Parts: sequence; structure tokens; C-alpha cells
Amino acid sequence: MTKPEIAKLGYISLVTQDLEKSLVFFKEVIGLEETQVVDGVYYLRAWGDFEHHTLSLQQGEYGHVKYIGWRTKEKKDVAAFKDLLENEGMDVETIAPWSTPGIGEAIRFKVPSGHTFELYYDVQKPKASEHRKSVLKNQTYKAWAKGISPRRIDHVNLHTSEDWQVTYKFFQEILGFKLREYLKVDEGEQILAGWMSVTPLVHDVALVTRKKNEIPTNARLHHLSYWLDDSQDVLRAADICKEYNLPICGPGKHSISQALYLYVADPGSGCTVEIFTGGYLIFEPDWEPIAWKESERAQGNTYWGDSISAKEIVKYTIEA
Ligand SMILES: [Fe+2]
Repeated sequence: MTKPEIAKLGYISLVTQDLEKSLVFFKEVIGLEETQVVDGVYYLRAWGDFEHHTLSLQQGEYGHVKYIGWRTKEKKDVAAFKDLLENEGMDVETIAPWSTPGIGEAIRFKVPSGHTFELYYDVQKPKASEHRKSVLKNQTYKAWAKGISPRRIDHVNLHTSEDWQVTYKFFQEILGFKLREYLKVDEGEQILAGWMSVTPLVHDVALVTRKKNEIPTNARLHHLSYWLDDSQDVLRAADICKEYNLPICGPGKHSISQALYLYVADPGSGCTVEIFTGGYLIFEPDWEPIAWKESERAQGNTYWGDSISAKEIVKYTIEA
């Protein structure tokens, strides 16, 4: 039997302690479109996203991420992943079809990093309303309606204090992510951070190892990221953030992934959003992961521009 496969990042389910602020941030500043509101949960997506939502927001006592959803390549992969994970001794919950709006039958489980993942295949791809839909057949909404206006979801960056060997083995061998670039200790094999993907992107997920005393729980979402088409759009995004008096980190360029970045935090939930463009794609089937040493960490993070030292953006992180 062939191994089940993940196709892409689907959505992040976020809880915010100030829903009103988060809605202003994600709808007006970032510029996401609202597809549906059900039982107090707001489902949002970017103008170029095709699926029902790429972000959900709901009120809670504190800001945290509930679930991170990944779409499988085929429908049968959902059941096959359930078998695979249960064979590994993991608890796997089955989520009834469409109990999450826009999402068919899903499985939910906690990965060794401590984050809760959902895997699903069936989705709804609602069309935009008549006055908002694009004239392009291959685009969901008219672009540039408001705010930063990213095209699509891009990636998530997860931090964990769990054992690096266990987490990297699980992400690669069970979930099928390919390691594209990584940061390791100068002497020895220990991996400190890995950029992994199931697509030609350098990363759909970045996994960063943190010491237990560095993060409040064993797992947190460091940031989620939306994609812009052009570097000029990142500069425009910086202006828009400043108009709303939001602190920014960047613009700058990563050496790892070679992408341009701008970080800004949602004042409601505390969740950091990375505005992202550029970078390179990987098409080689025999890609050799690129190694960076710990002594090269600053250079790997920032090729040029506003540096993203952990100290500067740590206040923006959110518990998982
Ligand atoms: Fe990122």
C-alpha cells in the first residue's frame, strides 16, 4: 500500500481574547475576506484562496491556536493516515463531515511537537458574492479590495520544546514532509530548526526547537504567513501597518528561503502574521537539505533589512 500524503496547508484555527480587535486586524488591515460566520466563529480567506477558509477566529479567554489543518492528496489518505497514526500508538479522533464549516470528514491528533493537527480531503470552495467575484475564471475575489490584501495562505512556523529527534522523525517519516533547509548546532547533529514542505515551497511548516524555559507551553504557534505577489507589496504593507499604529519587524530578506518578510502582530490574539513574498521553489526530487550552523543563525534569519532576533518578536508569539 502506498503511503498517504499531505497536499498542502489548509487552515489555522485561532482563538482570540479580543475578537473585535482581531476581526479589524484580519479583515481591515490584512484584508481577508469573510466567507461565513457560524456559532460565533468567523471563517476567513485571502482573495486568491479557493477553499472555504484559511483562518478561523473565535472569542476565548486567551489567544491560542486550536488546530492546524492540512489537506491530503486523496480522499483515501485521510483513513490511511488514521491507520498509520494508530499503528504508531497515537490517539486519533474522527471529526464528522462538515461539523467544521467547509471541511469534510477529518481526523484530529496531537503531533509530538504538541500541536494539534487536522487532516481532511473534502472541502467546499464557495464562490465570492456577485459584486466581489473576480472577472478572472481562475481567481476567487477581485484583488486589492482593502488592507494588505495577500493572495493566499503560505506557511506556519511552530515552536516546540519536545525532543528534536522525535519531532523531525515524525514530520518526515509519518507526515511525509521533506526537509529543505535546517539549522544545526556547530558541533554535532542536533537540529535547532527545520524548514519542511510537501509542496515546491521551501517550507509549508517551519519547526523550531526551544528550551523548556523559553516558551510557556511545550508548543506554540510562532507565526502564520500569508503570501503577496510582489516585493513592492511588502513595502506597501509596511505603510498600511504604520497607518494603524501597529509595530512591525522588517521589511527584510531571509537567507533561509530567500524570501522577503514583514512581521506584524494581531492586537487581539497576539498572533504574529508574516507577510511573505519572493524566495525560491524546489523541483529537484533529490534535493539535499541545506545546513546552516548555529553560529550562522543571524545570517540565516536575516540576509538584509530589519533583523528578526528572537528577542524582538518573542512577545508576538501565541500558545498552541
Ligand atoms: Fe515564516
